[in-house]
Amino acid sequence: MASERLPWICKDPASQRLFELAERVAPVPATVLITGERGAGKDYLARLIHELGPRRDTPYIKIECESLPPPLLESELFGHERGAFPGAAERKPGRFELDAKSTIVLDEVAALAASTQARLLRVMEERVFERLGGKEHLRVEARIIALTNADLATAVKEGRFREDLYYRLDLVKIWMPPLRERRADILALAEHLLAGIGATHGRPKIRLSEVAKGVLEKYRWPGNVRELRDTLKEAVICGQGETLEAEHLPAHMRAILDGNRPEAGARSLEDVEREAIEATLKATRNQIGRSAKILGISRKTLLEKRKKYGWV
Ligand SMILES: Nc1ncnc2c1ncn2[C@@H]1O[C@H](COP(=O)(O)OP(=O)(O)OP(=O)(O)O)[C@@H](O)[C@H]1O
Ligand SMILES: [Mg+2]
Repeated sequence: MASERLPWICKDPASQRLFELAERVAPVPATVLITGERGAGKDYLARLIHELGPRRDTPYIKIECESLPPPLLESELFGHERGAFPGAAERKPGRFELDAKSTIVLDEVAALAASTQARLLRVMEERVFERLGGKEHLRVEARIIALTNADLATAVKEGRFREDLYYRLDLVKIWMPPLRERRADILALAEHLLAGIGATHGRPKIRLSEVAKGVLEKYRWPGNVRELRDTLKEAVICGQGETLEAEHLPAHMRAILDGNRPEAGARSLEDVEREAIEATLKATRNQIGRSAKILGISRKTLLEKRKKYGWV
C-alpha cells in the first residue's frame, strides 16, 4: 500500500488504518487535525493526504507557527495592505491568497497567538479573511491541515487555546500512535530508511544484523521515526561493511541486550522520571494540577518537564 510518490510503510494494523483514513479524507476539502508525539510522522501523513487528494499537483505549503512572531505569521498567512504596519511599503498577498489551490499545513498550531487564533477561526467558520490593514473580503479555498504534538484540550483548559477554534479543528482528527505502539512498523521502517541512507552514503547493500534488529524492535523510541532515522544515519556514517551490527547502535539502546544480566533492571533517573510523569499524566487525563500533586512537584516544574520530554 503506497501512494505513487510517497512510500507509506505500514506493516502494523495501526498504520494501515492511518493509510485508509488518509485515503478517505484526501478527496474532501475538510480541515484535518493531526496530533501525535514529536517525530511520529505527522508531517509525513499530512504530505500523504495532500498527495492522495485532488491538490496533489500543487505545492505543499508548510507554515511553522512556532518560529514566526505573530505579526509576521499573520502577514505570511493573510497578507497585508500597504501601510498596515511600519515597514509595510507595498501590498503583499499572503499564502491563503497565493496558494488558494494548495494544501496549507499549519505546523504546531497550539503555538498560535490569540490574535492569529481569532483570524483562523474566522477562516474556519466563514471561509473568509482580509489582508492585514485591509477591508476586502477574500475567500479561502486552500485546504488546511493543522499539526500539533500538544494536547489541545489541556491548552483550552489552561486558557492558551480558544475553545471554539479547538472544536472546529477537532472535527476531523487523526491521532498518530507513537512508534512503540505500532511495533510491527519498526523493522519495516528501519529497512526502508536504511536503504535510502545506505544509498546516499555509498553503502547501498547495507543490511541489519539479526541482533541489531532485535535491539531496534525492543527499544522504546521516545523520539519515534525521527530518532530511528537519525540512529540509522549515524550508524551508517560511523560503521563500515555490509552489515549494521548492534555495536553500531548507541550504548543506551544496546543495553537492551543486557536483559539477562544482573543489572538488567538498571535505568537512568531520567528514564524513571519520564515514565512516572507520562503515567501520571495519562492517569489524570492530563490534569496538570492533580498530576503535579501526585508527583510531588510544582505545576511549573511539571510544565517544564513536559516541555523537556517533548509532549508539548
Ligand atoms: N511512514 C513513514 N515512512 C517513511 N518515513 C517516515 C514515515 N513516518 C515518518 N517518517 C520520517 O520520519 C521523520 C519524522 O517525521 P515527521 O517530520 O513527519 O514527524 P512529526 O510528527 O512532524 O515530528 P515533529 O512533531 O517533531 O515535527 C521524517 O524524516 C519522515 O520522513
Ligand atoms: Mg513536523
